[in-house]
Amino acid sequence: MCGIISILSKKDDVIGDLIASLRKLEYRGYDSAGISYIDDNSVLQTIKTIGKIEVLEDLVTKNQTEGVVRPPSKPSESEFLIGDTEHRSVVQQETDYEELGRGSIGIGHTRWATHGKVSPQNAHPHTSNGVAIVHNGIIENYRELKNSLIRDNFEFDGESDSEVIAKLISNHLKNGLEFIDAFKNTIAQLSGTFAIVAIYDLAPNIIIGTKRGAPMTIGLSNDKLNFYIASDAIALSTLCDEISYLEEGDYVICEKSDQLNYRILTENWESIERDKVQNTISMADVGKNGFEDFMMKEISEEPIVIDNMITQFNCDFDISHYRSIYIIACGTSFYAGLLSKYWIEEMAGIHVDVEIASEFRYRNLVSPKDSLYVFISQSGETIDTLAAMRKANQLGLDTLSIVNVDSSSIAREAGHNLKTLAGFEIGVASTKSFIAQAMAMLMLTIKKNNLDVRIIKNIMHSILLGKDKIKVIAEKIKDSKSMLYMGRGCSYPIALEGALKMKELSYISAEGYPSGETKHGPIAMIDSNVYSIVIAPFDRYFDKTLSNTQEILARHGPVIFLTTDRAIPFIEDLENNNLADCIIFHEDAVPQENQTDELLRPLSFAMAVHLLAYYTAKAKGLDADKPRNLAKSVTVE
Ligand code: F6R
Repeated sequence: MCGIISILSKKDDVIGDLIASLRKLEYRGYDSAGISYIDDNSVLQTIKTIGKIEVLEDLVTKNQTEGVVRPPSKPSESEFLIGDTEHRSVVQQETDYEELGRGSIGIGHTRWATHGKVSPQNAHPHTSNGVAIVHNGIIENYRELKNSLIRDNFEFDGESDSEVIAKLISNHLKNGLEFIDAFKNTIAQLSGTFAIVAIYDLAPNIIIGTKRGAPMTIGLSNDKLNFYIASDAIALSTLCDEISYLEEGDYVICEKSDQLNYRILTENWESIERDKVQNTISMADVGKNGFEDFMMKEISEEPIVIDNMITQFNCDFDISHYRSIYIIACGTSFYAGLLSKYWIEEMAGIHVDVEIASEFRYRNLVSPKDSLYVFISQSGETIDTLAAMRKANQLGLDTLSIVNVDSSSIAREAGHNLKTLAGFEIGVASTKSFIAQAMAMLMLTIKKNNLDVRIIKNIMHSILLGKDKIKVIAEKIKDSKSMLYMGRGCSYPIALEGALKMKELSYISAEGYPSGETKHGPIAMIDSNVYSIVIAPFDRYFDKTLSNTQEILARHGPVIFLTTDRAIPFIEDLENNNLADCIIFHEDAVPQENQTDELLRPLSFAMAVHLLAYYTAKAKGLDADKPRNLAKSVTVE
């Protein structure tokens, strides 16, 4: 969570590059953003604001073209507010400069609030007497550090835990330490997880960073004129051909003389080399490619992901000798795990338990012999999943990760890792990754040669062709206050996934239930304003799902019934019964009904519920790529 970019440059202006990289990092958090740089007069300048990067960019442009809007009289504090109340911004000036100028060293940050409300004061960078820092993670002991700094006469602007970092460095500088030592001594005082980068106006040729439990990537630009420290390789896409990932406890220091020299040091301050890897991320990977948003692009790629998984996924891991499998994950990744429970138990005959990572990591574990622990994560950085896996690793258990970002902590620390082939997923809501994760689990269950996925692809094809119908339904349901998603068997995890997507994108309260469970409570919610979305592929549960649907209709609940043409002969009654809508997708030329098809069909309905959530968000005028309060990679508890 939170994105960091920092640049030390031989060129004279890093501001445009800082903003451009922050745009690429925005999916990591987007409630506020800011940059600090040391201008050509050696003055630290900071611009930060509530809102997305575009708000910051406007502010930076305004300041560069028009100069800083001066307050009526010089404020006693070194900061003042400009802009309207909705997008209030803080411009901090260490001195009285009319214009912000340019700079060859700078840091930038896009925030997902943890400690402290969303406010300009809590936005990063945090500054103190010419020091500026950006921080990703949590400083657990910030309260005691803050109290001791207050005793040393430091004043705090906001409530953020990160603010102590800048003040601690500044305190060490005041006590006579050099910048690098001041940084190092500060880090020694911190507990928690963090990636931190700092600059200092009296050392304008040095940039320094470190990481503990949060990712950090470094790289020298292809022309060797820029050195970057970032939270994420995406920030460096198209900028560096080669990048390195820092290891736990590493420091990186880059100094500018006639060239840019950087060194990596371990926690014990010993020089070390870290492998350079090719940075293959291209603009096509991280662009919208003509789509209106990333989410629509990524949903449309779901069939491609299936092809990629079938043709390129390395599924050399054999689960057959395990007696039980424990799958641990969060959110959508958890639902992919839950879906695979149905597959593995039925087709491989192995007992499966699926657990939420934040629960797994803190409970006493009774681990039966011959068990495999599978950790599913798109980002590979979700802190609960990572901590759960570390716990299993420490206990000496067999761990396997299913991860989309193969440079991530989970991928690197797992006993065995399988990389899903979803490609970059930038939309904050996970869509094509869900398909890739489910496919990975499917391919662990059924060997590639025996796997026929035509049924999934055919139905997805029909869903894409019928997406306008889903759009019409979205218009109809967009003002409802709550919804129920229902399914049985393999459709139950799809119902959960649909409800999660609906609430995170449209802010409509939505719950997923096994259809058979509705009469044990949820049916009390049903009235003419509560929509029920029924996931009803034609399978062994179909009759029962039909009965549950009738129960909803009998109570005047509007139902959106999603099924395929195989069910047509059985739904006439339903259609005559005031159904709000029924979408019948086509299965096409699938040769014969078999047990596997029945188990696979529900996966394709994930695309339908993804589209329904997407179109509902759009119908409400919401940003489908960046739903409120969320971030793509959840690196805090
Ligand atoms: C929902 C969503 C989240 C993630 C969850 C786990 O659309 O994206 O629920 O699935 O935060 O993230 P990863 O898979 O990165 O561990």
